[in-house]
Amino acid sequence: MQTYNTPEIARGVYAVGAKDFNSQMFDAFVQTTEGTSYNSYLVKGANKTALIDTVLYSHEQELAAKIAQLTDLSALDYLVMNHAEPDHGSSIRFILNSCKATLITSEKGAGMAGRFYGVPANRIRTVKDGETIDLGDRTLRFIEAPWTHWPETMWTYLVEDRVLFSCDFFGAHSAHGTYADDVENIIHLAKGYFGEIMMPFRVFAKKAMDKAVALDVAMIAPSHGPVYKNPNRIIDEYRRWVAGETRPKAIIAYVTMWNSTETLAKAMYESLSALGVETKIYNLAHDSLDNLAADIVDSRAIVVGSPTVLSNIHPVMSNALNIIKILKPPIKYGAMLNSYGWGKGAVKVTNELFESTKIEMVGAVEISGPPVDGDYKAISDLAGLLAAKITSN
Ligand code: FEO
Repeated sequence: MQTYNTPEIARGVYAVGAKDFNSQMFDAFVQTTEGTSYNSYLVKGANKTALIDTVLYSHEQELAAKIAQLTDLSALDYLVMNHAEPDHGSSIRFILNSCKATLITSEKGAGMAGRFYGVPANRIRTVKDGETIDLGDRTLRFIEAPWTHWPETMWTYLVEDRVLFSCDFFGAHSAHGTYADDVENIIHLAKGYFGEIMMPFRVFAKKAMDKAVALDVAMIAPSHGPVYKNPNRIIDEYRRWVAGETRPKAIIAYVTMWNSTETLAKAMYESLSALGVETKIYNLAHDSLDNLAADIVDSRAIVVGSPTVLSNIHPVMSNALNIIKILKPPIKYGAMLNSYGWGKGAVKVTNELFESTKIEMVGAVEISGPPVDGDYKAISDLAGLLAAKITSN
């Protein structure tokens, strides 16, 4: 029989979740280039044992095997559901069918546990903000944290050891490592995750941050990615991301069909770089949206490059701009680069999108076919205007 690694991350607290190295896509639009993990934690008290969150249903046998290495699953007392989304909740029915545990969740979570997983009301105890349960020598306190990711989301805090089980908040899509120090690019991954999952809810995230900071936690154990033994490492980053602080940085995101738009995009990259602006360039036909999602968290400007396709922007760009729109980044300034063959339209569409996202359109270069000498001057002039805005904030 296989023996699993169940690291004891704090006294009597074991990581029993699953690493999904094969995960490539999440929620059907978030790329998980480094896999992900569905973290679940077993907390063993002197008198009672609690499991905090479960795993995606495809990993439920692994979860059960890990728990069985540490305790009798049938004797589990509490199953805490911090969040109902299936990556954490879809093994709830399996676990509850294996024991007599009470499901602990928020009031909104109780409704979702019934609807999503068929949990009967008599197996559920709802808890309010600050409410506790006693495991003997350990206390679990529940903290309402709505919209960190869904409205029912709450956190669990192990009082004596100051461990915060923060569910999606402070998470990252990485299947690697137990602790954050094991994952070299963890802050980049956490930033992309923040951009895709938390950024649309920054108002709520700010309230949640205040609660997290007030707890003075010693360890953060999120539901995706590694555990932070130094919580300030991620808290300090979150302070900036939640506040929507931008840096003097520009992103150029483009799609090209016959290289004309790409030529414009590269010319803009050269001009902005020559002006000292930190600039990232993405060809959306093949670059990961993950990296773009990380960059939009703190970029001050975006340059959109797209050919005109049937009086519109290219469909790949249309999809990317729609994603950017719903993620609500704090980008302040925008510009547009367009090459068309026989009809205009892409600049108008981009203008409308910028208006709806409160991005100030600084200017556009719109040409027919490949660029000629005068067009490079127009790019250079536009880069100058954009750089002035970016550096003056
Ligand atoms: Fe990781 Fe919102 O679920």
